[in-house]
Amino acid sequence: MPFSPVHPTAVLNPVRRRAVGAFGALATLLAVPGAARATLDDAFEPQLGRRGKDVMWLPTPDGVIDRLMHMAGATPQDRLVDLGAGDGRIVIAAARDFGVRGRGIEYDPAMVEFARQQAESAGVASLVSFEQGDIFETDFSDATIVSLYLLPELNLRLRPLLMAMRPGTRVVAHQFDMGRWTPDETSTVSHRAGYLWVIPANVTGDWKLRYGEGTDAVKATLAFEQRFQRVAGTAAHEAFITTLRQPRLLGDRLRFALTDPSGVVREFDARVGAKTMRGDAQGADGTRVPFFAERVGDAPSLDGAQAPSDEEMHAAVAALGGQ
Ligand SMILES: C[S@@+](CC[C@H](N)C(=O)[O-])C[C@H]1O[C@@H](n2cnc3c(N)ncnc32)[C@H](O)[C@@H]1O
Repeated sequence: MPFSPVHPTAVLNPVRRRAVGAFGALATLLAVPGAARATLDDAFEPQLGRRGKDVMWLPTPDGVIDRLMHMAGATPQDRLVDLGAGDGRIVIAAARDFGVRGRGIEYDPAMVEFARQQAESAGVASLVSFEQGDIFETDFSDATIVSLYLLPELNLRLRPLLMAMRPGTRVVAHQFDMGRWTPDETSTVSHRAGYLWVIPANVTGDWKLRYGEGTDAVKATLAFEQRFQRVAGTAAHEAFITTLRQPRLLGDRLRFALTDPSGVVREFDARVGAKTMRGDAQGADGTRVPFFAERVGDAPSLDGAQAPSDEEMHAAVAALGGQ
């Protein structure tokens, strides 16, 4: 990595400032590089600060794990991957308490073996697996929940991979955020920060919208701008153009309202696919009509899906330095 920790910064949001302030020394410790090469014997007990590849081992507290899984809405239908799984406690707790099938990717072979033993002891070995590997070289695209307790710059390096995952995938992180990608929810548990992001669909660009029947049919062009999960948009039809009220995107679910050409305020609720969006539009009297929209041309690339800039990476490193 061409970046080195320097000084703290005042640009952290208040939650993060509190969290990083309280645990900044911990974060600086976490940044110690080096690959582990220990062998596992019967008496093996990992020590806090055990060297890892890109970040050392420190565990996420149980209360934070529980909170993160609740934020993610974890269910037995989910497939969790913990990137840098350490002793496996996130994967094990998610299986034990939420019935989630889990996978831990961990570079340190001794920790992988230890995590397997811990899973056996917890009675969840049939639900979980642990594998030795580098998180930057392992495919985890089939996960529905991704958990992280790494470092800010590692989160940023992972961000393009995460943004390419299926819309609706939930990403939860302990302690460190994703830079310009603001979380969908932030919690603190005993001064530890927990973050949730939901991978957004890409609605950027123009869509042909249609709803209603016969002479009541309304056709318009929707135009969306999007950065990460934040969207803004307009609807236009001939001389009529209006901004969309409070557009909200959570995974593949898009909601917005507009005052249509006949003066009716309609609330739209849609599921977004690559080329189409479908849902219903509810009028002020509560009546619902189905609507359909089709993408015009190819989807422009989503602002936020690209690799972070050097400037953002430097800021992430600087945010930890000297804490
Ligand atoms: C801070 S610990 C978090 C452990 C666990 N996820 C938790 O929250 O309790 C980070 C873990 O990532 C592992 N790690 C570091 N770099 C890695 C890499 N490139 N690939 C896989 N694991 C890595 C370390 O060995 C360490 O166990």
